[in-house]
Amino acid sequence: MTTSFMNTLVFFLVALAAVVSAVPVLFLRDVFVPPVTYPHAGTVWKIGQRHNVTWDTAGAPVNITNKIGRIVLAKGGIEDIDNPIASNFSILLGRIEVTVPNVTPDSDYAVVLFGDSGNFSPTFTIEN
Ligand SMILES: *[C@@H]1O[C@H](CO)[C@@H](O)[C@H](O)[C@H]1NC(C)=O
Ligand SMILES: *[C@@H]1O[C@H](CO)[C@@H](O)[C@H](O)[C@H]1NC(C)=O
Ligand SMILES: *[C@@H]1O[C@H](CO)[C@@H](O)[C@H](O)[C@H]1NC(C)=O
Repeated sequence: MTTSFMNTLVFFLVALAAVVSAVPVLFLRDVFVPPVTYPHAGTVWKIGQRHNVTWDTAGAPVNITNKIGRIVLAKGGIEDIDNPIASNFSILLGRIEVTVPNVTPDSDYAVVLFGDSGNFSPTFTIEN
């Protein structure tokens, strides 16, 4: 091998190492938006009952940007941000017990699980 080729190769390897070491910085903190598995379509909750909201934690990245979860109720797609039914729990738990709040009975409710961003459950019913 010629000196010039060696120099080029060394330069290339140094440049490659720089790129490779820069990549993990970009991907160190991962957005994790687990899908809600309960309540599902067809679920009926009664006001005042306690239920476990559950979600799938499979595929959770090692470094999650925001591990602290929050669950709000949504009606007709409108989230009731001000009155979370659960908050300050680890998103890695996979379930959290909630009490069904005293809301207008209807069939267009969903729970929204927040970690990094919000994930809606399917629409379900809340009864009196
Ligand atoms: C997770 O974060 C820690 C500390 O910030 C870091 O040492 C580790 O390499 C990261 N792991 C991954 C897989 O990003
Ligand atoms: C929620 O899940 C926990 C753990 O599995 C269980 O102990 C608890 O009874 C459940 N709550 C309800 C309301 O089903
Ligand atoms: C959230 O939970 C942590 C650990 O259980 C606790 O130390 C902290 O005070 C809680 N924060 C709020 C706002 O409830």
